[in-house]
Amino acid sequence: MNDKQLKVLITGSNGLLGQKLVQHFQRHEVEFLATANSKNKLSFCPAENFEILDVSNAVSVGEVITAYKPTHIINAAAMTNVDACEDYETECFAVNTIGVANILEEIQGTDIHFIQISTDFIFDGKKKLYSEEDTANPLSNYGKSKWEAEELIFESGYNKVSILRTSIVYGVGEALNKNNIFNWALAELRAEKQLNIVNDQFRTPTFVEDLVQACSKVIELGEFGVYNIAGGELMSMHDYIVLVAKYLGVDSSFVNAITSEKLNQKAERPISSGLNIDKAKDELSYVPTDFVESLSKIDSDN
Ligand SMILES: NC(=O)c1ccc[n+]([C@@H]2O[C@H](COP(=O)([O-])OP(=O)(O)OC[C@H]3O[C@@H](n4cnc5c(N)ncnc54)[C@H](OP(=O)(O)O)[C@@H]3O)[C@@H](O)[C@H]2O)c1
Repeated sequence: MNDKQLKVLITGSNGLLGQKLVQHFQRHEVEFLATANSKNKLSFCPAENFEILDVSNAVSVGEVITAYKPTHIINAAAMTNVDACEDYETECFAVNTIGVANILEEIQGTDIHFIQISTDFIFDGKKKLYSEEDTANPLSNYGKSKWEAEELIFESGYNKVSILRTSIVYGVGEALNKNNIFNWALAELRAEKQLNIVNDQFRTPTFVEDLVQACSKVIELGEFGVYNIAGGELMSMHDYIVLVAKYLGVDSSFVNAITSEKLNQKAERPISSGLNIDKAKDELSYVPTDFVESLSKIDSDN
């Protein structure tokens, strides 16, 4: 299928990944429909390419898919605030699990390639680096809601699905509801503020442009199955923020190490939920952006 034959339906287009997908398909002159649960917040997304779609509403999901007839659906819609998912459990599962059930229901019996974005938080963090075959054991509502969505996909028997599992997605976006840790750390450290960062949570953060490239690649190659799409290095969040300080030329003494216990976040988090990206490297020619290089890209986008 060449670019001209593609019709890509994007959910969650106001979010970080959603909007980077919109920009990507615009640049490549691929036909797309951007959808979000509230009005279009993107200055660069034309009104004729946008519709409101709440993925938790089965009727609306059915209507939009039936009317638009996409060749591909990328589900970038999610409730991503892990702590809010503890307080608003019903809403969390409505978006992250029922939203996927609604899409699956509509695409059964079609040829639509469904790309679902999942998370390292489906794991319990006892193993350090997780491959695609490792056993899920989510600790939080967010992790459970995303894992239940994956289970629905596996149980449905629908096989034109790519599940891209990712970890701490970061980059610069427009009109975002929430900031990400690296944008925040860049701003705070520039202002020479002291930061408290956990030194016992180990992650493989993902530059959003790399995740966009992976979505584009599974479309181009027609690859189905589960892929880990993340950064190339497993480090503690404290070590990552020290790299941000070094990048800025700010003394690393501005980055205080604290424990998760002291931070006392509402949702329990995996200690080490790094994603092993060997499969994506082999099968999708995936090459993550070097972390420090990604910081300079963020600066030039800001
Ligand atoms: N961000 C991360 O660190 C991270 C880590 C691992 C995996 N992921 C996964 O990566 C994907 C993209 O995340 P992201 O970083 O782009 O998150 P994001 O910036 O929070 O974007 C998610 C978008 O989904 C929208 N949304 C919420 N409920 C919806 C509904 N009922 N119908 C339609 N849209 C709805 C949100 O709108 P509102 O803001 O109005 O609620 C938001 O614009 C998600 O599947 C997420 O689970 C993200």
